[in-house]
Amino acid sequence: MHCGAPGVRMMGKQGLSPDMKRKLLVTSALPYANGSIHLGHLVEYIQTDIWVRFQKMQGHECHYVCADDTHGTPIMLRAEKEGIPPEELIARVWLEHFDDFSAFHVNFDHYGSTNSEETRQFACSIYGKLKAANLIESKTIEQYYDPVKEMFLPDRFIKGECPKCGAKDQYGDNCEVCGAAYTPSELRNPYSAVSGAKPELRSSEHYFFRLSDARCQQFLKEWTTKGTLQPEASNKMQEWLKGELSDWDISRDAPYFGFEIPDAPGKYFYVWLDAPVGYMGSFMKLCGERGIDFDEFWKKGSTAELYHFIGKDILYFHALFWPAMLEHAGFRTPTKLFAHGFLTVNGEKMSKSRGTFITARSYVDHVRNTEYLRYYYASKLNGTMEDIDLNLEDFVAKVNSDLIGKYVNIASRCAGFITKRFDGMLCAEIPSTIEQIIEDGRLRLPRLKYDLQNPRRTGLLEEFATWAQTISEFYEDRKYSAAISNIMRLADRANVYVNDWAPWEMAKDPAKEKDLHWVCSYSLNLFRMLTIYLKPVLPKLAGEAERFLNIPPLVWADAKTLLGAHRINEYTHLMARLDPKNVEAMVEANRESLKPVEHSPARHAESQVHHQPIFDTISIEDFSKIDLRIAKIANAEHVEGAEKLLKLTLDIGTGTRTVFAGIKSAYAPEELVGRHTVMVANLAPRKMKFGVSEGMVLAAGDGKDLFILSPDEGAAAGMKVK
Ligand code: 2FM
Ligand code: ZN
Repeated sequence: MHCGAPGVRMMGKQGLSPDMKRKLLVTSALPYANGSIHLGHLVEYIQTDIWVRFQKMQGHECHYVCADDTHGTPIMLRAEKEGIPPEELIARVWLEHFDDFSAFHVNFDHYGSTNSEETRQFACSIYGKLKAANLIESKTIEQYYDPVKEMFLPDRFIKGECPKCGAKDQYGDNCEVCGAAYTPSELRNPYSAVSGAKPELRSSEHYFFRLSDARCQQFLKEWTTKGTLQPEASNKMQEWLKGELSDWDISRDAPYFGFEIPDAPGKYFYVWLDAPVGYMGSFMKLCGERGIDFDEFWKKGSTAELYHFIGKDILYFHALFWPAMLEHAGFRTPTKLFAHGFLTVNGEKMSKSRGTFITARSYVDHVRNTEYLRYYYASKLNGTMEDIDLNLEDFVAKVNSDLIGKYVNIASRCAGFITKRFDGMLCAEIPSTIEQIIEDGRLRLPRLKYDLQNPRRTGLLEEFATWAQTISEFYEDRKYSAAISNIMRLADRANVYVNDWAPWEMAKDPAKEKDLHWVCSYSLNLFRMLTIYLKPVLPKLAGEAERFLNIPPLVWADAKTLLGAHRINEYTHLMARLDPKNVEAMVEANRESLKPVEHSPARHAESQVHHQPIFDTISIEDFSKIDLRIAKIANAEHVEGAEKLLKLTLDIGTGTRTVFAGIKSAYAPEELVGRHTVMVANLAPRKMKFGVSEGMVLAAGDGKDLFILSPDEGAAAGMKVK
């Protein structure tokens, strides 16, 4: 394990000194515009987002773009099934995807769509340049045609009996029963999965990218072995490159949802031709918005770095077709591809019947805090193509033990003393830089030791600061699990310090006032240092810690500085424990059904939170005038003629109250009966059209995005809420 001393200058990636500002363009694979984002997808987006946030914290110019992958037969057919134009479907799914990514704090600089003018222009110009280089060829091929639907059928839309084992209803490319791979023409008794009709073999002219050309083969042999791929990916590519590569069929016949090929009416670019071009299209949009020079990132010979994060299943497209297209169309090629493995849940493939095919939406609805998952994934990711496992029991245990039990615990045990005893001011004895601590002989002690008589002589902050270099290398190399385990080891050491000096004991002895001030201030500096290291993974929590510490957004270089005479804000709880019941509820919800494109109340609630203005302050006396009580909903019913109201009978221990609540849009009466909630019990009775309302229940949000409050388990009807 490398442990660089502070101030030591190391050479970073790309042979640059860490002080040099790099220019990076980073992408994640474009999700298809006809399905929901699920936890498997999120392995990639979270992984990329952590990397991008880390690069930005280093002060580099880093842009992160992505887009919806909108073209192809499945999207066309899905829109048709819904009776809407494909443009309407992709616009709706775009919003859903964008919402899902935002909820998980995946912060794209631009999230576009492949169905954009920019992407169309790049696709056409790349095609034109390949054609001019004599790398496009047309050939007549035979393909299955659905005579009822009047369209050529992609392999996935032809079904029949497996030619090997005879299993019925197998897809045109492989058998799910015996695993055999074959071509659609080998299927017995084939039928169209679209109309059920017997398909006919018909011929059609297709356009091919001539990968078999010696220029492509030669280029790819070099490109795939010069450090652009992880070793396991490079090996795989060499196997494919052993024989001659086949030409790649890049056209599809109408009807097709995509870009029509220039000078070839009725022929469209195959979705995989324009999908990676979508990286360029999306970036071009960003350039327009922010005045970035597109060519600086894409021209041949560019010194900017280009990274694609992808799943191992689409390596073939990104490591062969894409670089060959770019190279021969006169653009730069990617600096590196970062391929990752798949997600398993509880050690098995994600499964709808087990409820482990979990959508992003249902996670937000049930578990709510998305940083739990970011943290868990980070603790597992190691930069290789190995699959990672989300073990749901381990997930709960790790989040609660590390984030709440270790990290947050440091602040929660020390902050109150600073606020109450020292008027929010940290101890002025703490210098403003690590260098000063090192120079100050009084404070200095060898690493890993501290003086049990004097809390000032610890060496802990210096030790924490030296880890900035190693942890940054782990992030750079996408070895997030190594970063996390070391950060948590440091958190353990900070907790030992707090335990050893026990501020809660010192606070009882007036003679220890100064030591108390030091210990709490020092511990909060340790907490701040951990916040820097965790920030790429936990951006929201870090933002809340910054607000509490009353400091501007932390960057990596802040690991060299400290907070001395500085006023912090009052501590409010930073993170709640993850209740395993919420995880169970999420699995149950996914077991029942997988609902692809709907609206989620929870996500909209999150966006509302930021837009509600905060009212003027009130005194505690004003607040205490409100008699808030726990109420058990004894009955809930519809009110005839009322559009928005439900009639609730609320048990508040001493009797019942009738309340008309405007929550009909969000709750069915039967969902409410038996629940506990919070009511304003001393609101003057109000005569309404349907009767007298004797109070009010508390709820967040409005319309469909409305949530009534529930107390924690154990609260009983009539208890006062204060
Ligand atoms: O496999 C997929 O989900 C594709 N939509 C990924 C495309 S990535 C890039 F090439 F656009
Ligand atoms: Zn079979």
